[in-house]
Amino acid sequence: MPKLIEELRDEHRQMSTILDVLENAIREIDRAEGVDLDLLKLLMDYFCQFPDEIHHQKEDLIYARLRESGTESKASHLHDQHTKLEALSKQFSRYVDLIGLDLEVERAQICKAGWDFVDLSRRHMEMEEKYFFPEAQEKLTAQDWETAAREAEQSFNKTDQKEFQALASEILQSDIERCS
Ligand SMILES: [Fe+2]
Ligand SMILES: [Fe+2]
Repeated sequence: MPKLIEELRDEHRQMSTILDVLENAIREIDRAEGVDLDLLKLLMDYFCQFPDEIHHQKEDLIYARLRESGTESKASHLHDQHTKLEALSKQFSRYVDLIGLDLEVERAQICKAGWDFVDLSRRHMEMEEKYFFPEAQEKLTAQDWETAAREAEQSFNKTDQKEFQALASEILQSDIERCS
């Protein structure tokens, strides 16, 4: 399997686990009980940056190669969904900031923004696992993968990637401590 696809699948697994934590946080907001604002802020730091700055951009690089190969992709809405996910994460993050400021915001409205983000994130990853990754693996040549990997290497700072890994670990650790 191309290294980039392996990385993307690992990132999906990680995002999916962190989405589970976010789902619990949204349920707590909904029940108006013990909302852990620090954890929510860490979650939104992660979801407002990692997918947009690293994960989606790797996928966009692969999609560009797929387009160049003349493939009629079933994932033609990939980039539109990335834009939509960015807007949804930012919207929910604005609501999280309002909770922090103790401003009166409808709980139902905050939860809806959270669920909209979670639902589209999960559907989007499912679509990529089902159509986009297999299609890319089938159509792209070894040379295409080399080019995409080189572009990714040049575009993404390893330090940033490590910082996001550290943020993900911090989220999962605080979730474990909270539940224990
Ligand atoms: Fe994506
Ligand atoms: Fe993805």
